Amino acid sequence: MSEKIYVFDTTLRDGEQVPGCQLDTEEKIVVARQLERLGVDVIEAGFPISSPGDFRSVVAISQAVSDPVICALTRAVEKDIDVAAQSLEYAKRKRIHTGIGASDYHIKYKFNSTREKIIERAIAATRYAKKYVEDVEFYCEDAGRADNVFLAQMVEAVIAAGATVVNIPDTTGYCLPEMYGEKMRFLRDNVKNIHKAILSCHCHNDLGMATANTLSGIQNGARQVEVTINGIGERAGNTSLEEVAMTIQTHKDLPYHTNIDSKKIYQTSLMISRMMRMPIQANKAVVGRNAFSHSSGIHQDGVLKNRENYEIMAPEDVGIPTNSIILTARSGKAALKHHLVRLGYEVDQERLEKAYEEFLALADKKKDLCDEDLVEIMEGKQAESLIELKNLDVVCGTSSRASATLELVVAGESVWQKAFGSGPIDAGIKAIEKIIGKKFNLEELLVQSMSGGRADTGKVHITLQHEGTQYYGFGLDSDVVTASLKAYVNALNKIPAVKRIRLQSVRKEVQANA
Ligand code: KIV
Ligand code: ZN
Repeated sequence: MSEKIYVFDTTLRDGEQVPGCQLDTEEKIVVARQLERLGVDVIEAGFPISSPGDFRSVVAISQAVSDPVICALTRAVEKDIDVAAQSLEYAKRKRIHTGIGASDYHIKYKFNSTREKIIERAIAATRYAKKYVEDVEFYCEDAGRADNVFLAQMVEAVIAAGATVVNIPDTTGYCLPEMYGEKMRFLRDNVKNIHKAILSCHCHNDLGMATANTLSGIQNGARQVEVTINGIGERAGNTSLEEVAMTIQTHKDLPYHTNIDSKKIYQTSLMISRMMRMPIQANKAVVGRNAFSHSSGIHQDGVLKNRENYEIMAPEDVGIPTNSIILTARSGKAALKHHLVRLGYEVDQERLEKAYEEFLALADKKKDLCDEDLVEIMEGKQAESLIELKNLDVVCGTSSRASATLELVVAGESVWQKAFGSGPIDAGIKAIEKIIGKKFNLEELLVQSMSGGRADTGKVHITLQHEGTQYYGFGLDSDVVTASLKAYVNALNKIPAVKRIRLQSVRKEVQANA
């Protein structure tokens, strides 16, 4: 009989911890709704004690989705658990995910403690979480490097304290598939009350074995997998949802199934890549650009004779189209709508008209339009931009005072301004502040390169803080100063107080500052 494997998605928690992948609350809601459509069983929505923004996101996701269980992460600390419980108030089905280190590395060097005291803390945290929710998951951090006998004691203790799910993370991605599988088997065979809880696999990909380890975990008794879309996550990432789901689906002889609607995998993958600014490597299993393309003559010949000669799954199984309707500058709205719906967008007439205008403009410049272009049309320009950065000139260096002269277009009208600062980015931000007459707290500015090299394109991620809420902005340019100010303007456009700015007030500000 086929057994259900529960899919616990942590894209919005472990995945979102990656520098530069941060999303704001509105974006997280969009992702959570897509995860719900995809069919995940649990959404780990955040780590509420870590920031007010994370707290608000867990609240908002709890209100926005109804089928999946909403899970909030905590340390084995009462305050964390109180805040997590509060953030889950509106969730229809809720889970607190608490835990502590299980390896001697963590016990000695992170907690400066002993095995006995760590077990006491684990029991206390589980009991404390249980006061708030029935469904408590406990993680034994760094279980991958923990002693199995001690791990079994810890697992037994937290199940006795009420844990419904026990997570066995290979936090450092150290395990080999056999080791990880044996660990699960050891727990199944040696923990007396194991039948009262579900064992969960949470693997990291530092040695490229996260998917293999997760599958080995399942084959040795785990019934929940903790995964992210595109394998996004700290360092080399987490186990990728699509790889596990498609392995289970493709190997029909495996006695397992998931609730994942595989036809929605591709659109979800594109959405995450676009929103989290994390390109998918071309040869990424299941969703990479080359995952289904055959270039060698022998393979092409074989595929033409019978697809199954070289393909173990069909592109359509994961929602990749076989393009019978190709988009060109001559395509009509029906063709565009067909592709947008295929990518998972709900398009009413107004949204279609707008997308069609942008599509025609792009199709004039670019011959072959791909799915990424459609995603860009739908998401890149979705938020109506009140403010745009039109022109920018900066002076900087060792012998001159940094200044920026820039042109902003505010509600369709052009405004010029100049300012000095501690560097060209600071000067640019000051010029923008003078124009809009408002200042915001710049929490983070992160510059990344796309591919390396002198002529590389810079990606800049910015987080602004206003009245306790974080606003994320992204900018891309071959010049990092321009990219930074584009990111700043992108974040500004999301702040309600900026959206309310009227041009008259901008003019007054500019006159006052002239
Ligand atoms: O990798 C890990 O150990 C984790 C835990 C916090 C669950 O992400
Ligand atoms: Zn993790």
